[in-house]
Amino acid sequence: MAQPLLISPVTLRDVTLRNRIVISPLCQYSAADGMANDWHFAHLARFALGGAGAVFVEATAVHRDGRITHGDMGLWSDAHIAPLRRIGDFVRSQGAAPAIQLAHAGRKASMQRPWHGNGPLDDSDRARGEDVWRIVAPSALAMDLGWLTPAELSPAEMAELREHFRCAALRAADAGFAVLEVHGAHGYLLHSFLSPLSNRRSDAYGGDRAGRMRFPLEIAETVRAAWPKDRPMFFRVSSVDGIDGGWTLDDTVALARELRARDVDVVDCSSGGIAGSATAARILRHPGFQVPFAERIKREAGIKTMAVGLILDPEQAEAILQNGQADLVAIGRQALYDPNWPLHAERALLGDAADFEHWPVQAGWWLKRRERGLRALQAEPARKQS
Ligand SMILES: Cc1cc2nc3c(=O)[nH]c(=O)nc-3n(C[C@H](O)[C@H](O)[C@H](O)COP(=O)(O)O)c2cc1C
Repeated sequence: MAQPLLISPVTLRDVTLRNRIVISPLCQYSAADGMANDWHFAHLARFALGGAGAVFVEATAVHRDGRITHGDMGLWSDAHIAPLRRIGDFVRSQGAAPAIQLAHAGRKASMQRPWHGNGPLDDSDRARGEDVWRIVAPSALAMDLGWLTPAELSPAEMAELREHFRCAALRAADAGFAVLEVHGAHGYLLHSFLSPLSNRRSDAYGGDRAGRMRFPLEIAETVRAAWPKDRPMFFRVSSVDGIDGGWTLDDTVALARELRARDVDVVDCSSGGIAGSATAARILRHPGFQVPFAERIKREAGIKTMAVGLILDPEQAEAILQNGQADLVAIGRQALYDPNWPLHAERALLGDAADFEHWPVQAGWWLKRRERGLRALQAEPARKQS
C-alpha cells in the first residue's frame, strides 16, 4: 500500500515536516503583557507529543496595541523571546516544527475575551482592570454598531507598523521558529486593508484592488526580507468576505499571485471575519467548507496552499491531499478535541502497521505491548474452542 500523503514528510525550503498535518493557530487569551507562560507551553506541547508536523503558536501581536484582547500573545519586545524559545525548543525536540503567526488586530483590537462576552470591552472588563486602548485601521470605520471607531492610519504610522512586523519577524527567528505566518485574515489589520468594506482610503493604499493590496504586500515583503531565507513563510487569507460588495475569491487569487512573486511559500486559506468576531465567512459550514478556496488558489496562483476549517477525519484530510486540493491540512478545534489527532490519523490510515512507533516512547512502548496482549487474549477463546 502506498504511504498516505497525510503522514508523508514534506519539505518547504530547508524545513522538513514529518507529515502534512499542521495545528492551526489557536488564540488562548491567557497571556499577561503578551508573555507566553506555562499554559501556552502545555497547550502547544501536547500537539507536538500528539504527532503534528507543525505546531502554530497563536496570533502573536507585533505591537501591544495590535492585541485582540488583553490576554493575547505578543512579540513586541526582546523580553517576549525566551518563553517562546522554550516552547519552540520542546516542540522541536518532539519532532514537530515550531511555527508562529504574527498579527495586528487593527479595528478588531481591544475587545473582550470570548468567554467574557466576545464584544467590545465594557464596565465588567474595566472592573477587572482591562480598559480600552486606541485602535487603528485603514479607515475610521467601526467593525459594527457599538464597537470602537478606529483612527485612520497615517503614512508615518504605517511605516512604524512595517517596522514592528520586521522586528517581530527577527525576534521569531531568534526564538528558533521554523515557520512564520503573517495573519492577513479574519478582519484584522491586513485583511481590513484588502476589503473594500473596511478600506475607504483615497491615498495610494486604498481605491482599486492594487491600492488595497499595497500595504499587506509591503508587510509580506518586509517580513520575508527579515525572515531567514532557508525557512518557509506562510500568509493567511480570508479567501472571501462572504458579504455583498466585499473581498472575493478572484481577489484572493490575484493576491496569492503577488504573494508568490514575493517568495511567500504557502497561502493558508481561511475566510470571513470582516464584520463581527467570527473567524470564518457567513457561509454554510460543512466539513471541509473552505477546501474549494485552497484548491482554486493553488491551481490558479500556482502556489502551495493549506486547507483549514472543519477538517475532522483522517480520510477526509487524506482525500484533500490526494485530490491535489491543498498541500497541507490544518486542524484547529479537532486538535482541541483530540490533541493526539495526528497519531490517531496514522493508525486510522495504516491500521495495525502503525504499531505506535511515532508515539512518544514513554507511551508507545507500553501501548504496543498492551495491544499485543489484547490480541493474544482475543485469539485465546478461538484456540480453546478448536
Ligand atoms: C479557540 C480558537 C482560537 C483561534 N485563534 C486563531 C488565531 O490565533 N489565528 C488565526 O488565524 N485563527 C485562529 N482561529 C481560527 C483557527 O485557526 C481555524 O482556522 C478555525 O478554527 C477553523 O478550523 P477548525 O474547524 O479545524 O477549528 C482560532 C479558532 C479557535 C477555535
